[in-house]
Amino acid sequence: MQIRLAKTAEDRAACFALRKAVFMGEQNVSEAEEWDGLDDTCLHFLAIDQTGPAGVARLLPKGNTAKIQRVAVLPGHRGTGLGRQIMETVLDHARQAGFHHAVLDAQTHALGFYEVLGFVAHGPVFDDAGIPHQAMERAL
Ligand code: COA
Repeated sequence: MQIRLAKTAEDRAACFALRKAVFMGEQNVSEAEEWDGLDDTCLHFLAIDQTGPAGVARLLPKGNTAKIQRVAVLPGHRGTGLGRQIMETVLDHARQAGFHHAVLDAQTHALGFYEVLGFVAHGPVFDDAGIPHQAMERAL
């Protein structure tokens, strides 16, 4: 499995197709909410092996803070440690790029996944795209 920055049009298209399958297909997120106009501002990460794309994440720069969004692993690859590997790659990249903090809005079912990676939840649970979320953060 290789996790790389999606720089080519082909890699970016693979990221978007995977997000469409997971967030719109599985989780019923609307098109308008998924394509929020921020993709051109973000760095996109693609996990891919010989069988094809397997997972994604994007990093939205906000000053000294890296906001991590759209973390998704295809069903057949879940529970294999791939989500963790993707997150560690994004966090390493953010650290090397000089960001001081990482933040994200976690779907509440995934709080435990991000806690393993050092994120701490804070503030109230809120609704986004019909899914309960909570803010999380960690220093880099
Ligand atoms: N709740 C609690 N812990 C979880 C978890 C969950 N939902 N999912 C994974 N973990 C834990 C694992 O047990 C593992 O811990 P361990 O190393 O101590 O055994 C660790 O987190 C890493 O798990 P990993 O196998 O890397 O996770 P994954 O590849 O299955 O990816 C998601 C996790 C959430 C990215 C994946 O389930 C997914 O794509 N879900 C659909 C999209 C989604 O909800 N994305 C999150 C948006 S905020």
